[in-house]
Amino acid sequence: MRIRRKPWARPELAEWENCIDVPAENRGKWHSVFKNDAPLMIELGCGKGGFISKLAVAHPETNFIAVDIKSEMLGLAMRNIKREYAEANREVDNVYIFSQEIMLINKVFSSKDVCDRIYINFCNPWPKTHDHKKRLTHNNQLMQYREFLKDGGEIRFKTDNDDLFLSSKRYFAECGFELTYVTEDLHNSGFDDNIETEHEKMFSEQGIPIKFLIAKKLTINHSEKVVNEVEKTVSRPENEADKPENMNEN
Ligand SMILES: C[S@@+](CC[C@H](N)C(=O)[O-])C[C@H]1O[C@@H](n2cnc3c(N)ncnc32)[C@H](O)[C@@H]1O
Repeated sequence: MRIRRKPWARPELAEWENCIDVPAENRGKWHSVFKNDAPLMIELGCGKGGFISKLAVAHPETNFIAVDIKSEMLGLAMRNIKREYAEANREVDNVYIFSQEIMLINKVFSSKDVCDRIYINFCNPWPKTHDHKKRLTHNNQLMQYREFLKDGGEIRFKTDNDDLFLSSKRYFAECGFELTYVTEDLHNSGFDDNIETEHEKMFSEQGIPIKFLIAKKLTINHSEKVVNEVEKTVSRPENEADKPENMNEN
């Protein structure tokens, strides 16, 4: 997504104690950053932060981390978070943000960080076959998330894109996740635990139904076989690896 330069973003982020400058320093120690052992939830690709700001302020019993690569996005996310907490008359005490390339997410989280849930909202669909590996739901990414997502933990994924959604259902199944909830039309599904993101609002105003799924991480014993299978899948040629074959799409 193109976004206008925001010269204020970096200096303002540098001043804010809830924006972490060198997140890799906290690898394996995120619970001590929050100074408690509350459940941890992470949003990958938070954009302008409309989602995380509303979610985090509504759940003081949970710790949140929001990640994006662009400082312009993080600047807007910071301002949204500050505004939501000010309106609720609360200190910002359960959410941190930082800039990170998500394809290298294991440089900032380890298995010691024990994450309960990951949110991925409207990530880039990377439609060309040779770019599929950059998708935030691609097998290569899911195998990284498995490292710090606890057994039984969930990934909640929303998209407007049919092809990405179809492929992602397969990626999740191949990487040892069970799809516990799938809808092709979130807003007409009766699912009532939803917070709309900026992209979600834009796409639904264009009449595009929002696709949504919840994928639960299976335990190692359950998924070991699947993980081995996936290693073979990932090493297949990309166009072959991305073919939706032998898949129950729901
Ligand atoms: C299409 S926007 C969606 C923003 C928001 N989640 C929403 O639903 O409105 C995708 C966001 O993910 C970030 N992003 C995309 N790929 C990324 C990557 N590999 N690492 C970190 N951030 C990434 C972009 O900077 C952008 O803010």
